Amino acid sequence: MNATEAFLKPAPAVVNLPLVQLRDVHLAFGATEVLRGIDLEVHRGRAVSIVGPSGSGKSTLLRCITGLVAPQRGEIRVGETDVRSLRTEGELIALRKRVGFVFQQYNLFPHLTVLQNLVIAPTRVSGRSHADAERDARALLEKVRLSHKEAAYPGELSGGQQQRVAIARALAMRPELILFDEVTSALDPETVGEVLTVIRELVREGMTCVLVTHEMRFAEEVSDHVYFTEGGRVVEHGPPSRLFGAPAHERTRNFLQRAPSGATGLSPLARA
Ligand SMILES: Nc1ncnc2c1ncn2[C@@H]1O[C@H](COP(=O)(O)OP(=O)(O)OP(=O)(O)O)[C@@H](O)[C@H]1O
Ligand SMILES: [Mg+2]
Repeated sequence: MNATEAFLKPAPAVVNLPLVQLRDVHLAFGATEVLRGIDLEVHRGRAVSIVGPSGSGKSTLLRCITGLVAPQRGEIRVGETDVRSLRTEGELIALRKRVGFVFQQYNLFPHLTVLQNLVIAPTRVSGRSHADAERDARALLEKVRLSHKEAAYPGELSGGQQQRVAIARALAMRPELILFDEVTSALDPETVGEVLTVIRELVREGMTCVLVTHEMRFAEEVSDHVYFTEGGRVVEHGPPSRLFGAPAHERTRNFLQRAPSGATGLSPLARA
């Protein structure tokens, strides 16, 4: 290799750098310690699930990744961006364009049609032309199987349909990764499957996803890696077959035994 080739070839460490990296993240709200030294990595094109009891800090952790809350200690990186160093609203908006976030509550604009809900951010925030944004929006509605609802208002849709619109809306910003925070928790059981199908397809297409979920079977099926958190710490993490099939910690075992099974109709969880 000559000098120019050596210069052009990225160092292996850079190539393998995770898209999201948290190191020793500590966060307290007043006297309440919520994150107590979180280490987590998400590589490009991978799906990572975070499971754990209520109050263990899962949503807070996702909020840290988008800069919505600021930890007191530790390191958070999204690609080359040091999230904790972002100060201005402009810098934070730039990060949030790259990181899609879908919540339990769909938060669609009730006075806008489905299509308008998908067009508004790309045109207003990213400065894309209306025609471009609309073309993308229609393709995304096809992807989430809601083309026939483009002129409907959110209030005219089922919960599962609204959540699929919310996922399409996140995709409309062409994010580098998407965070899903219990996106099926508020849905009635019949519509859970249709939302999980959309997420499953995104994962298969190589979208980088972080999923906080109580749907254990779904997490087991779609994830490349699973973290189990409790009390603001990662108790253990590993490939789903290992974490669900042979958890190393008593706490994980207890949690998984008590967790309600998912509604995906997959094979039952292996119990340790
Ligand atoms: N803005 C806030 N101010 C004070 N305390 C907060 C705030 N946000 C979260 N907490 C506390 O932090 C802890 C972790 O909350 P978080 O929402 O991250 O948990 P979670 O793992 O997502 O739980 P769940 O599974 O119920 O959604 C909880 O004890 C919660 O009460
Ligand atoms: Mg939560």
